[in-house]
Amino acid sequence: MPYYRRVGDVPPKRHTQFDRPEGGLFAEELMGSDGFSGASALLYHRHSPSAIVEAAAVDQPDLGLAPNDPLLPHHLRTTELAPGGDLVGGRRPLLSNADVRLSVAAATDASPLYRDAVGDQLVYLRTGEARLETSFGALDCVAGDHVIIPTSTTHRWLPTGPDVVHALIIEARSHIGPPPRYRSATGQLLEQSPYCERDLHGPSEPLVVDDEGPVDVLVRHRGGLTRHRLAHHPFDVVGWDGYLHPYRFAVADFEPITGRIHQPPPVHQTFAGSGFVVCAFVPRKLDYHPRSVPAPYHHANVDSDEVLYYCDGDFTSRKGSGIGPGSISLHPAGFVHGPQPGSVEASIGAEATTELAIMIDTFAPLELSEHARRCDDPSYAWSWAGGAAPT
Ligand SMILES: [Fe+2]
Repeated sequence: MPYYRRVGDVPPKRHTQFDRPEGGLFAEELMGSDGFSGASALLYHRHSPSAIVEAAAVDQPDLGLAPNDPLLPHHLRTTELAPGGDLVGGRRPLLSNADVRLSVAAATDASPLYRDAVGDQLVYLRTGEARLETSFGALDCVAGDHVIIPTSTTHRWLPTGPDVVHALIIEARSHIGPPPRYRSATGQLLEQSPYCERDLHGPSEPLVVDDEGPVDVLVRHRGGLTRHRLAHHPFDVVGWDGYLHPYRFAVADFEPITGRIHQPPPVHQTFAGSGFVVCAFVPRKLDYHPRSVPAPYHHANVDSDEVLYYCDGDFTSRKGSGIGPGSISLHPAGFVHGPQPGSVEASIGAEATTELAIMIDTFAPLELSEHARRCDDPSYAWSWAGGAAPT
C-alpha cells in the first residue's frame, strides 16, 4: 500500500451512477485487501470484469522442493539457467517456504495476462527494460526497479529493450509494503525512512483497451492454476482511485544510511511481507571510524534464512568465492557465515563500495527446488575453509 492515487475518470461520489457516453453505466469494481479492512481501490470498467465464458485447470510442474539437509550454505549460479520465455511462465522457482517463493527469470518474450491471487509480488529487474501493463495502467520499468504488484492485479509483462530481462521474483502469500517503522500513524513515510512517496511511481493514465475479447487470463490461486477466458479485455478501465495499485521504486532512489562503524542490515530494509523482509545493499560511503572494519563481521542468523541476489559492483565480503552478478547465496539459520578469507584485511581503508544486492530474510526455513540444485555451486560451502568439496 503506497498512498492515494487517482487516474483517469471517476465519478465525484463513490457508488453512484457513472454514465458511459454511448449509454449504460460503467461497471464499478472495489478491489479491496484484508476483506474490507485494508487498502482498496475503486475501478471503473467499460464491461463487467466478472464475465467469464470458460475456465480450465492448468497443470503446474512439480518443483522438486526438498529441505536444506544436510544444512549447508549455497551459491546458486542462476546465470547457468537457460534464458528464454517470459516473466511469468519463464520463472524458475529456486527457494520456497509457506510464506514466500523466490524465482529468477531471464525473459525475452511477452507474458500472458496473469493474476496472482495468492499474494503480492515484488519483481526486481537486474537487467533490461520491460513494460508492465495492468488494469490500473502501465509502468515502464528499467534495470534497478522494484515493481510491486498487489494481489489479484491483472497484468502482463512486455520486454521493451534489446537486452534479456533478468529478474528476481518474490511471490508472497501476504501483502508487501514499506516496513511499518518507516511510516507515521496515518501511513506517511517518515523522515527517517530511506525513501519517500516521491520515489514511488504508479500508473499515470489508464490503458483503456476496448477489445471485445474473449481473452485468456492465467489465475494463480490458493488451490492451483486456472485459465479463465474473459468475455472482454480486462484493461478496459477508464479511471480508478485508491491506495491499492501497482508501483515501482528504483533502487537508485534508496538513500543509504551509513555510520562510523558497520551498520546492521535493518538499515538497508526496503520492504516487508508476512514472514520475510527485503533489503537493498546499494553503492555507498563506508564506515569512517579511524579503526573501522568495513567488511561485515561473522554472523549467525538465529531466526532466519538469508538470501542475497547479487546485481552489480564488487562484493567485498564474498571475494574469491565465485559469486558475481546473477548469483544467489543462501546462508541458512544454524550456519555462521562471514567474510571470505582475506576480505576483512582487504576492506581496511576502503571509503566506498559499489556493491548492489537485494536481500531477502525469511523467518521460516527455505526449501531448494530442482532448478536450485541444477545451478548449485558444490564448492561454495567449503570456501571459508579454502577447500574444495569433500569427495
Ligand atoms: Fe549475512
